[in-house]
Amino acid sequence: MRHIHRNSAGELMISDLPVALLAEQFGTPLYVYSGDGFAAYYHAFCDALAGLDTVVHYALKANSSLGILALLGREGAGADIVSGGELQRCLAAGITANKIVFSGVGKSDDEIRQALAAGIGQINAESEAELRHISAIASEMGITAPVALRVNVNVDPGSHAKISTGQRSTKFGIPVADGEAASLYRQIAADPAIRPAGLAVHIGSQLTNLAPFEAAYLELLELADSLRAEGLEVPVLDLGGGLGVDYHGDGQPDFAAYGALVTRIFSNRGYRLGFEPGRAIAADNGLLLTRTHYIKQGEDKRFIIVDGAMNDLIRPTLYEAFHRIEPVLRPSKASGLADIVGPVCETGDYLGEGRDMPEIQEGELLAVFSAGAYGAVMMSTYNTRPEAAEVIVYQGKAHLLRRRRTVEELLACEENPFA
Ligand code: LLP
Repeated sequence: MRHIHRNSAGELMISDLPVALLAEQFGTPLYVYSGDGFAAYYHAFCDALAGLDTVVHYALKANSSLGILALLGREGAGADIVSGGELQRCLAAGITANKIVFSGVGKSDDEIRQALAAGIGQINAESEAELRHISAIASEMGITAPVALRVNVNVDPGSHAKISTGQRSTKFGIPVADGEAASLYRQIAADPAIRPAGLAVHIGSQLTNLAPFEAAYLELLELADSLRAEGLEVPVLDLGGGLGVDYHGDGQPDFAAYGALVTRIFSNRGYRLGFEPGRAIAADNGLLLTRTHYIKQGEDKRFIIVDGAMNDLIRPTLYEAFHRIEPVLRPSKASGLADIVGPVCETGDYLGEGRDMPEIQEGELLAVFSAGAYGAVMMSTYNTRPEAAEVIVYQGKAHLLRRRRTVEELLACEENPFA
């Protein structure tokens, strides 16, 4: 059961709190999260892997609120980061550096230095050039850098092109083909400034079919076994994130099926397994609340013009992503097609297109579902719209995670040389 649900009167709730009250209190557009849901999903993910030697690093790019990091950290989660900024966030939230994995194709020297100085648990390197930089910085600092190689297994994850990372044509990972990854692994194993931490793979995000995971994991295992057969140490296999969620329905991600697949492939193989789930933990546990400004009758459909826009949730515009949109109070019968659009001056500014929606009144509150992942973290201030505020409900109480900035604050870091 999801923690965001409707009560018997049909009203949308987070645990026992009506989300309409939160919209009253904090204003809209507003992101609201279930902290209990985040914790429960994190544990469901871990439980599905019971019996294996695992470390779970929450991919905070999905939702990096300090409060959420602190909550997950307290539940035992480590973190998967992709920038020095994310490292600072984790440390500020109390996740210690040894529980952090640093991913990404473009780490700067400063970020590498910052991570090594903090005592990062693992850096996932993605190119020979990056390895040279890590090695040089580690020797200069007089330390050994724990480095895993992210490999490219050339597997199509069957997801949206912009969030697919497994194919050879993408910028990610070092190809397993032609022995490239194996030869670089031998190189790092021989480098006194590097401690080989293992291999990593992440083929993409929002995978709803498990077959691509299986193909990628088998490839990874074969490479790891062959390196071990040469006498090299491969302590960890980092299996990435990517488990998809059900944007159309009410179901949880299929943690059990994913866990069964991983168990079938890796049990008793002697590897510690790392995971980097983001969306699967965060998406279902957040809503974007938005209030209706106006209803406008178009040529062949209604426009429901709301106060949330593409700057608050870019996924529909950027990935043609689908998010359920429903009235917060009891949804009545559909009464025809509508686009749910924001105030931003672009035709691409919509939260939902061609939806069979009930009658909606001016002032009515709508909820955009499954907005807990890649929602607030991708906000911008386009059209000089301050970002939505964020609130979390945990154990029956609502807490502000981030207040809405004022326009004065947005302008404060600008200079006007011509004033
Ligand atoms: N590990 C690595 C190396 C990644 O690149 C990603 C996501 C993850 C883990 C977490 O993947 P997840 O479990 O969340 O699928 N903004 C896009 C999604 C971008 C995903 C980028 N990498 C969206 O809104 O769909």
